[in-house]
Amino acid sequence: MKTLITQAVDILREGGFVAFPTETVYGLGADARNEAAIRKLFHVKQRPLQHPLIVHLADIEQLPEWTRDIPDDAMVLAKAFWPGPLTMILKKQKSVSFLVTGGQESIGLRIPRHPIALALLRELGSGIAAPSANKFTHLSPTTAAAVREEFGQEIDLVLDGGVCEIGIESSIIDMTRAPVLLRPGMITQAMISEVLGKKIESFVSEEAPRVPGSHPLHYAPQTKTSLIHTHQISDFLRALHANQLPIAVLYSCETSYPAMSDVLMVQMPSDASAYAHELYQTLRRLDHQQFKQIVIETVPDTMAWDAIRDRLMKASGGDFIH
Ligand code: TXA
Ligand code: MG
Repeated sequence: MKTLITQAVDILREGGFVAFPTETVYGLGADARNEAAIRKLFHVKQRPLQHPLIVHLADIEQLPEWTRDIPDDAMVLAKAFWPGPLTMILKKQKSVSFLVTGGQESIGLRIPRHPIALALLRELGSGIAAPSANKFTHLSPTTAAAVREEFGQEIDLVLDGGVCEIGIESSIIDMTRAPVLLRPGMITQAMISEVLGKKIESFVSEEAPRVPGSHPLHYAPQTKTSLIHTHQISDFLRALHANQLPIAVLYSCETSYPAMSDVLMVQMPSDASAYAHELYQTLRRLDHQQFKQIVIETVPDTMAWDAIRDRLMKASGGDFIH
C-alpha cells in the first residue's frame, strides 16, 4: 500500500493540491515548478495574482535552484533558524516563474520544521509553493478540520498533523536590501538582530492609524471583531445593551469579571507563545457561534507580543472600542 506521503507526492506531480501541516499553520501546497497548478492555486484561494507565494524547501542545499546572490546575512539566518518559522525574501533564480513571485524579482523561501512537511518536501525533491490553507482574507487554519472547512472537496488530500505548534504564520524578513522584517512572527526582531549582530528595521502594523476601517482586514474572522484597552473592559461590560448580545470577550489579564448572561468571557494565556498557539483556534470556534461581536483585549506592548499585536490589528481591521 502506498504511504500517504507517496500519494501526496503523486498528486503534486500531477498538478494537484495537497494541504499539509507546518509548525506555523497549514499550507495549501502545489508543485512550485508547475505553472498550471500555481494558476489554479490562486483561483481556489481566491487570491489576487500579485500576492506572491512562499516556496517551501527541505534543505539549504536546494537554495541555488531558487535564489541567487544570497547575502551572507541570509546564510547566517538560515543556519540559525531553519528548519523553522522564518521566511526570507531573496533574489529569485531566473528559472522561477513570475507567477509564484507575484511578478517580482524576489522570492519568499522557507524550510519548515514539521516532520510531515519535511517528509513531503524530501520525497518530492523540489519546492512546494504553499500559501496558508485558507480563502483570501480568512483566518489561517491550524487544524486539518479547519482546512476542510475552508476548501471542502476543492483539495485532493489533507495531511492531518494535528494542531499546529506555533499557531500563527512565519516571520517574514526581506533580505534583498538591508534586512527589514515585513511580517512579525514568533521569531522576533530581537532574535534576528541578536543573530546578525545588528539592528534590523521592522514594519509593524501598530503604526497603522487607529481608526475604524483604516486597516485592511486580513487573517480575519467573519464575525465583527474589535479591540479594547484593558482599563475600558469593565465600563464596556456595564454599558452593554441587549441589542449588542450575545458577545464574546477575549481577555488575558489576571483580572476577574462578573458573570453576565450572553457575555462569554474567554481567558487567553498570559504567555505570548501559548497565546499564539490558541489564537486562531479560539477565533474560529467563536466564529461558529453566532456572536454579534468578538472583542479582544489588547496585549502587552513588548516585542515578544509584536506578532500577536499585528494579527489582532489585522483580525479587527484596527477597530478599537472607545
Ligand atoms: O507560516 C507561513 O508562512 C505559512 C506556512 C504555510 O508556511 N504560509 C503563509 O503563506 O503564511 P501566505 O501565502 O499566507 O503568506 C505569504 C506572505 C504574503 O503576505 C506575501 O505577500 C509574502 O509572504 N511574500 C511572499 N513572497 C514575497 C516576496 N517575494 N516579496 C514580498 N513578500 C512576499
Ligand atoms: Mg495567508
